[in-house]
Amino acid sequence: MTYTSVLTEIRGRVGLVTFNRPQAMNAFNAVMLGELFDALEAFDRDENVGAMVVTGNEKAFAAGADIKEMAEASPFEMITQGRVEKWDRIRGIKKVVIAAVSGWALGGGCEFALSCDMIVASETAKFGQPEITIGVIPGAGGTQRLARLLGKNLTMEMVINNRTLTAAEALQFGLANRVVPVERYLDDAVALAEEIAGRAPLAVHMAKDAVNAAFETTLTEGLKTEKRNFYPLFSTEDQKEGMKAFIEKRKANWKGK
Ligand code: HXC
Repeated sequence: MTYTSVLTEIRGRVGLVTFNRPQAMNAFNAVMLGELFDALEAFDRDENVGAMVVTGNEKAFAAGADIKEMAEASPFEMITQGRVEKWDRIRGIKKVVIAAVSGWALGGGCEFALSCDMIVASETAKFGQPEITIGVIPGAGGTQRLARLLGKNLTMEMVINNRTLTAAEALQFGLANRVVPVERYLDDAVALAEEIAGRAPLAVHMAKDAVNAAFETTLTEGLKTEKRNFYPLFSTEDQKEGMKAFIEKRKANWKGK
C-alpha cells in the first residue's frame, strides 16, 4: 500500500505509523485521516505485527483537524461526509495502539491520542482542545474521553478556556503513561509496544476489550464483560502453556491460539 500523508514501517513486531504533513503541523486532512486508519487496519490484520505505535514529529504530534479544509463547510457537508464518524475507526482496532507524542497534540490530535490505548510522551508534549478559539467544540471524542480521564472541572477548563496540559501535568493527571526525554519518546513507545507484542495475543485482546468496557457501562455490566472475557481464555492453548510454563519455571511460548 502506498500512502502520501503517513509513513509506515514494521520494527520487530511493532507496526509504526508516522504522520507526514510536517508543513501543516500534521493537521488531519481527509487523506491523512483515511490513510492513518487504513494503515492501522492493515497492521491489525498482519500476523507479523503484535502492537502498533502512532507518532508525529518532535514539534507536532498533530495540530488537529485541518482547519483550512473545513473552514467553508456547511453542517450538511460535514454530516454527509461523516467528518466526525470517520474518527471512530480507531474503535475497531483490536491490537494495542500506543501514541508516541512530542510537541503539539491539539484538537483532533489530542483526541486521537486519547483514543489510543496508551500514551508515551516526550517532555515537550502539550495537550489541548483549542476548538473554542475557532468557534467550535471538540468533535472526535475530546469532551467525553477527557472528562472520563480528568474529571469534569479540568475538562471544562480545557474545552471552554483552551487550557493546555504540559507533559508533566499529563503524567500527573493520568493522561500520559510516561514522560521521557525527547530523544527517547519514540524508541520507548516502540519498546513498550514490543513488550506487549510479546504477550499472549488473545489475552491482550480480551484485556483491552474489558478495560474499554469500563468506559461504556455500569460496574455490574463491566464486571459481566470481564467474566465473559476471562472464562473463554481457559479454552486457549496459550492459557495452558502460560500456566504450565509458570509451574515449570520457564518462559511461555505463545501461539496465539
Ligand atoms: C490547518 C494548520 C493547522 C490546522 C497548523 N497549521 N495547524 N493548518 N489546520 N489544524 C498550519 C499553519 O496554518 C501553518 O501553515 C503551518 O501549519 C505551521 O503552523 P504555525 O501556526 O505557523 O506554527 P506555530 O506558530 O509553531 O504554531 C503551532 C500551533 C498552531 C500552536 C500548533 O499552528 C495552531 O494553533 N494550530 C491550530 C490548532 C487548532 O486549533 N486545532 C484544532 C483544530 S479543530 P502556513 O501555510 O501558514 O505555513 C479540530 C476538531 C476535530 O481538531 C474534530 C473532528 C472533526
